[in-house]
Amino acid sequence: MGLFSKDIKTMDDLFVHQLRDIYYAEAQILKALPKMIDKASNAHLKAGFSDHLEQTRGHVSRLEQVFEMLDLNAEGVDCPAIDGILEANEVSGEVDDKRVLDAALIAAAQAVEHYEMTRYGTLVAWAEEAGRSDCARLLKQTLEEERAADKKLTKIAESEVNLKAA
Ligand SMILES: [Fe+2]
Ligand SMILES: [Fe+2]
Repeated sequence: MGLFSKDIKTMDDLFVHQLRDIYYAEAQILKALPKMIDKASNAHLKAGFSDHLEQTRGHVSRLEQVFEMLDLNAEGVDCPAIDGILEANEVSGEVDDKRVLDAALIAAAQAVEHYEMTRYGTLVAWAEEAGRSDCARLLKQTLEEERAADKKLTKIAESEVNLKAA
């Protein structure tokens, strides 16, 4: 379902739609990360992906708490955006040079983090506007973890992977 389908009429509808969108996205990310951990060669990258897998489980459970606070069932809605990002960035085993593979994995992961940051950023703002600071607080914790994960990836890319891949 895209935005502005006939089922979305109010800000509340829009908020819930975005919540379901990111809930679906987090579930897809949970499935993608173990494959990325397997493919990564750089030890810091592998460890970073593993940490973020653990954090991502927390993101799912925070979203479930938000659904509960709003008296809603925790359910996802198809999110073609994250499907596209994950599919377009699916790093296959065809790259022989491990450093090139790591660089590709970092690029893929950063595309995902940026998607999450834009979604959570919007959700935090809307929750605050709606007077739901309880929901905003939880969503903000996740937003901060996505930002930190993104920064860590930049650091690994700049300090280790890209230099060696060049
Ligand atoms: Fe996440
Ligand atoms: Fe993330």
